Amino acid sequence: MTEDAPRIEALLQAMTLEDKLGQLTMIRADFDAAGSTLLAPKLAEITAGHAGSVLDLRGATALIAAQKAAVENSRLKIPLLFTLDVLHGYRTIFPVPLGEAAAFDPDLWERTARAASVEAAADGIALTYAPMLDVARDPRWGRIVESAGEDAFVTARFAEAKVEGFQTDDLSRSDALAATAKHFAGYAAVNAGREYASADFSQRTFEEVYLPPFAASVNAGVAAIMPAFIEMAGVPLTAHRALLTGVLRERLGFDGVLISDFFAVAELIKHGVAADAAEAAALALNAGVDIDMASGTYTDGLPEVLARGLVRIETIDAAVRRVLALKLALGLFDKPYARGEHALAPGTIDAHRALAREAARKSIVLLQNNGVLPLSAQTGRLAVIGPLADAPGEMLGPWRAAGEASEAVSFLEGVKAAFPHAVVFHASGADIAAALEAARSADAVILCIGETANMSGEANSRARPVVPDAQRALAEAVFGAGKPVVAVLTSGRPLIAPWLFEKADAVIAAWFLGSEAGNALGDILGGAVSLSGKLPLSWPLDAGQIPIFYGERPTGRPADPENHDTSKYIDVPNEPLFPFGHGLTYTRFDYGEPRASAETLKPGECLTVEVDITNIGGMAAEEIVYLFIRDPLASVTRPFLELKAFTKIKTLPGERATVRFALTTADFSFPDADAVRRIEPGEIEILTGPSADAALLTRCRVRVVTVD
Ligand code: BGC
Repeated sequence: MTEDAPRIEALLQAMTLEDKLGQLTMIRADFDAAGSTLLAPKLAEITAGHAGSVLDLRGATALIAAQKAAVENSRLKIPLLFTLDVLHGYRTIFPVPLGEAAAFDPDLWERTARAASVEAAADGIALTYAPMLDVARDPRWGRIVESAGEDAFVTARFAEAKVEGFQTDDLSRSDALAATAKHFAGYAAVNAGREYASADFSQRTFEEVYLPPFAASVNAGVAAIMPAFIEMAGVPLTAHRALLTGVLRERLGFDGVLISDFFAVAELIKHGVAADAAEAAALALNAGVDIDMASGTYTDGLPEVLARGLVRIETIDAAVRRVLALKLALGLFDKPYARGEHALAPGTIDAHRALAREAARKSIVLLQNNGVLPLSAQTGRLAVIGPLADAPGEMLGPWRAAGEASEAVSFLEGVKAAFPHAVVFHASGADIAAALEAARSADAVILCIGETANMSGEANSRARPVVPDAQRALAEAVFGAGKPVVAVLTSGRPLIAPWLFEKADAVIAAWFLGSEAGNALGDILGGAVSLSGKLPLSWPLDAGQIPIFYGERPTGRPADPENHDTSKYIDVPNEPLFPFGHGLTYTRFDYGEPRASAETLKPGECLTVEVDITNIGGMAAEEIVYLFIRDPLASVTRPFLELKAFTKIKTLPGERATVRFALTTADFSFPDADAVRRIEPGEIEILTGPSADAALLTRCRVRVVTVD
């Protein structure tokens, strides 16, 4: 961006304070019956130079008209930055992030982000509020659906793939979007999973869990970062100078744009750390927030605090420079209409639909199966039952951008297409007797229950993340028919439903699978395509276990059924119903012992770990393989397991594959008691296997020797 510096300085020279604050101000589109629009007063703000970016305006015509107002009618002709939440697709909707995380497939994660960019940019959008990188361990919190699950390593890989996919290596491409890593940091730690509540986590948790995905996004060149709405240990993130400037800018070298969350600058008043708009604006700007999203607080408040000496013009100028640099990098000055000018190339949507089907298929997790799946191609009569059976709009989940219910494939439609010779009965379940009748008439039941899209996502915390009561009543009635039942759970989070797992013959976690949900389900039900998805988070047995995650640390009193005074519940087990990484395929695998390329290694050295995996079942299948480490003795406690690598293999029946993982000693480093990252000498256990279930892991050891 350095070659842009003279251009930026020249502009800055020409700008009044009002112009500068305009660049730091994002306005939100207006809404009418037809959707989003910009009414005359907001267009006037744009021509007056009082707004530098716009949230939520959609449709190429509207965006180009607004861009014209800025580029042709404003004094400085600075182009607008159009922004939108493009999380898991634009028009073609891919699985929600938690679902897509279950594919454990960075290449797929990148390709879906690329496709989403192509569609959104063709409609004029230049920046997306994604990827969401909050490591999330509390299924009560509705936004867990936007996350890549409970693991920092997985979320960091997700971060890199998404940033690459959205941005490419050239932001000025007319089909590239600037990515925004959000919500920095620890938003998922809100107390008791209650949305927007406060959080309080240790420096260690910050360093080991919440920071690494953001650090990975910065390394990948992310253009923007959004601070979280919440406060952490008394300091709202929007005003957190130590984290925004100290960690992001000074320590990680992030030189992109910090964009506040929606109204978050003004909300500093309600947090009780700012008396008025002027103080709120000063706090946020001085902390490092460049753009004020929607609250107008910078425009209203900064002139006063500038006059009072609470902010410096240099700080404002630095923020403006960063905003202009982003607009230049996006090519907006040279080609302000490049995004939105051309329709999508013919065939693009078809290709994206095929990708959506692939992504949905790979995101499905088979949680349990007594052999009922795959269904025989000969199955003559199928009943597809439940409120989510024929609910194409619900398949899109939260944050659906330009996704249309009318373009989504329901489970019912997908099952009909996959079993063209079967008689397919449908019952929504509103009439339980009719549903029972359908079940009785069928050879097998596909029971489609779970959450609707509006039960998950922002501001949808649930103290009881369960299958709604009415659906449970329906399910219990259907079980009464005595037919094999395949439960397809649609949800943005693990649902607590022990009764379902007791009675269903198979249970599928379908998340919100997107536009091709039904076709993807059809693909896997008959076994035509292998299943491979695995859980990116622990699936609790009981809500009382939450937060629950595999990376727990040892206690001085480990659980011991023989000893009362040990770390356990007296009413439920400690273990989740399904661990991180759980997910069945239609075959079985045998894992050999891992082999390390060296017994000892010094800091800076590399290690290769190989493990043989044999497909001992009867079907070709893909298998996701994990490599964890465990440091049994260190200067601070270390988690029981830490994920350091994962991969996916493809095997034929009877085939043996050798997986090779490359590690370095940096993978064994951790923050010491003073939060300084170090590699300590000693033994490291290396564990490989199909999930975080310790009983299924095979292991070997290496020794790290440090030379002083
Ligand atoms: C959410 C953000 C989102 C923003 C803009 C907020 O309510 O927290 O994740 O990017 O709205 O839509």
